Amino acid sequence: MIELAFSILAADFAHLADEIALATAGGGSIVHVDVMDGHFVPNITFGPPVVAAIRPITQLPLDCHLMIEDPDQFIPAFAEAGADMVSVHVEVCRHLNRTLQHIIDHGMKPGVVLNPATPVEAIFEVLPMVHHVLVMSVNPGFGGQKFLPRSVDRIRHLARLRQELGLHYRIEVDGGVAHDTVASVVEAGAEMLVAGSAIFQPGQTEANARDFLRTARAAA
Ligand code: DX5
Ligand code: ZN
Repeated sequence: MIELAFSILAADFAHLADEIALATAGGGSIVHVDVMDGHFVPNITFGPPVVAAIRPITQLPLDCHLMIEDPDQFIPAFAEAGADMVSVHVEVCRHLNRTLQHIIDHGMKPGVVLNPATPVEAIFEVLPMVHHVLVMSVNPGFGGQKFLPRSVDRIRHLARLRQELGLHYRIEVDGGVAHDTVASVVEAGAEMLVAGSAIFQPGQTEANARDFLRTARAAA
């Protein structure tokens, strides 16, 4: 199932509820929340209080992408705030299996994230326990960056592994996914498509979401 996970990082923060409503009206079905701590990535965004604030204004699942140094410490707060999915970077998790189990124990769906320079093999052992694998197609930290084309092969690799191992994890892709790149990631096997700057634009958000999904579904 092809889904648009719109990244509110690119939204107008002063009108977050309206922005979410517009992207939803255009067919977006997951709210992607980019949590950055200024340590793992060179940028700071928002945390559990913002998740708690948007929880009552949307029915859509809240997909929290944690770009933070010590995710274990914050998992209970994200659960409490109403997050549905939480993904953590393999690069920061010394005990990745434990961290993913921690997410599951808090009633959320666990995801694992790969930076562009991290080999897919690094997460092989946890593939059976994750709900989704998030392939970063830019180096995390900022919206509006250029899509890294090698990501397409990485998605294909994960789709092939899923079939060979008889698993069911979903494949999510994040960074530089826009009208000109979305077909290639869908053809490779991605189905949770994160997009921020390609969606949120004054006066065009709803139409952007609709056009994006049309292009994505045509490639499926
Ligand atoms: C980058 C974030 C992305 C970002 C994507 O670190 O994880 O989710 O918002 O933004 P665009 O779609 O503009 O590349
Ligand atoms: Zn993200």
